[in-house]
Amino acid sequence: MCGIVGYVGQADRAGRDYVALDVVLEGLRRLEYRGYDSAGVALVHDSGVHWRKKAGKVAALEAEIAARPLPEAVVGIGHTRWATHGGPTDANAHPHVVAGGKLAVVHNGIIENFAELKADLMAKGFSFLSETDTEVAASVLADQLASAGDLTEAMRRTCMLLDGAFTLLAVHADFPERIVAARRNSPLVIGVGEDEYFLGSDVSGFIDYTKDAVEMDNDQIVTITPSGYQIIDFSGGVAEGKPFRVEWDAAAAEKGGFDSFMEKEIHDQPAAVRDTLMGRLDENGKLTLDELRIDESILRSIDKIIVIACGTAAYSGQVARYAIEHWCRIPTEVELAHEFRYRDPIVNEKTLVVAVSQSGETMDTLMAVRHAREQGAKVIAICNTHGATIPRESDAIIYTHAGPEIAVASTKAFLAQITASYLLGLYLAQLRGNMFADEVNRVLDELRAIPEKIAEVLAHEDQIKDLGTAMGETTSVLFLGRHVGYPVALEGALKLKEIAYIHAEGFAAGELKHGPIALVEEGQPVFIIVPSPRGRDSLHAKVVSNIQEVRARGAVTIVIAEEGDTAVEAYANHVIRIPQSPTLMQPLLATVPLQIFAAQVAKSKGYDVDQPRNLAKSVTVE
Ligand code: G6P
Repeated sequence: MCGIVGYVGQADRAGRDYVALDVVLEGLRRLEYRGYDSAGVALVHDSGVHWRKKAGKVAALEAEIAARPLPEAVVGIGHTRWATHGGPTDANAHPHVVAGGKLAVVHNGIIENFAELKADLMAKGFSFLSETDTEVAASVLADQLASAGDLTEAMRRTCMLLDGAFTLLAVHADFPERIVAARRNSPLVIGVGEDEYFLGSDVSGFIDYTKDAVEMDNDQIVTITPSGYQIIDFSGGVAEGKPFRVEWDAAAAEKGGFDSFMEKEIHDQPAAVRDTLMGRLDENGKLTLDELRIDESILRSIDKIIVIACGTAAYSGQVARYAIEHWCRIPTEVELAHEFRYRDPIVNEKTLVVAVSQSGETMDTLMAVRHAREQGAKVIAICNTHGATIPRESDAIIYTHAGPEIAVASTKAFLAQITASYLLGLYLAQLRGNMFADEVNRVLDELRAIPEKIAEVLAHEDQIKDLGTAMGETTSVLFLGRHVGYPVALEGALKLKEIAYIHAEGFAAGELKHGPIALVEEGQPVFIIVPSPRGRDSLHAKVVSNIQEVRARGAVTIVIAEEGDTAVEAYANHVIRIPQSPTLMQPLLATVPLQIFAAQVAKSKGYDVDQPRNLAKSVTVE
């Protein structure tokens, strides 16, 4: 959460038709998904540092700049905020400018010892205009600069004094051609252009200008100037970044003709699953996961798997658990990352922890990863963001190839996470001898058929949209599912809460009779995810009974069922059809109508589908 951008170009920028302000504003628009409580920019000009900041979205900042223009400059920083310390006001917006207007700082993260530092600074005569921890960090930097005499060295000394998580960017009027940036536990990537350098919370902050990027480690400082970048660690030693090329281009981060990113990303799902499956077979047709660098003997000896994640990613883990236990016969738990660490979990060298995160930056998940590794567990990250902190700190990585996900409510990342977890399950089953190669290949074929089937669901989206529009006034919706349909129900409810602000609950259908059925009264909408009638353990018949139970109490039933499943028709007010598929594959299809429904309800109510209130996409605080 909080998006950060920096740009250093050349005064003589032949062939470039943009200036620092354009680059910074474009970056902020792309990073706005990280927080949209306020936005601000600071530019370094011959006449000093100039800044504008405004509560609200980037559009409000742009209006402010239109009303009070800024001078043309070649060095600039920008920030889009998700409020932690202090409300979403103009005063608390970043940049925070100190040292008589000479030093401007933007920040992502939380400075945990800010109160203590503030007291020390106040004793030295510093005063503060905002309630933020960032202004304290800026003042510490100003204080350190007085004795260090150099902005990079002052930043290094400042970092040694700060506790917590931070990415900090600073510009100073006396050091006009540079930005100094530091990171600890918050994201920062460098973009490399021709005689111009960029900084961003992620590569979308500069994707319009370059695809050449450099990863930094934790506890490092980078100084960018028009002639290059230099990285040092917090003890002052010279460090190297890790260059990489961004695989997608700016068009992948556009709406592509859709009204919202979420709708576009729902439609990206066939490609997200297909691309995540690609390139996983070796020349002998055997499943390989080449980003998996844990010794095979260790993977053979594990006796427990714990999936840790938050939000939608955790629901993908709940789906994966059914498949992994079924295929590998390894006990598998799924735990919310923020709960995991604090319950003294039983974790040792025989535990495999799977950390699932779209962004790879979720602080709760990162802290759980660290805790697991300290206990001796091996950690595999399933992540959608190249070079993010969680994969960097894990023993192995399986990247999902969903492309950039911009809408705050996760859609395509969810399907890609399930796909990647299934690949991991199949890989372990093959490695440990639980499945023969031909069995693995049969499941892979089922997975390969999924993109086409998702496209079929999407082709019938109008039916679901009509339902969404008609149900705009609904105040409560229930979702029921069994087996893998249960986490799908939870995800359907989460989508509706997140973007349509409707009270929604997902239940295991079998649990209904133990309490939740008391909620059902005349007209209560209930979605029911029906497993395949060809599946095992009479699961289908049980769910059909559950539909009857709620219908008998007046519920309006919206049933998601396979094509050809006629048994549900008598009890359904609405039937949404999905293509036939084995039970374990069904979440990859049944989730899609629920996403479309939530997006349509939000849209019909006039809400911002991509940027729902109070949320941020990448939650980098605990
Ligand atoms: C936030 C987002 C959710 C997301 C969760 C986990 O809460 O609003 O959409 O599922 O974080 O994010 P991650 O990046 O770790 O998958």
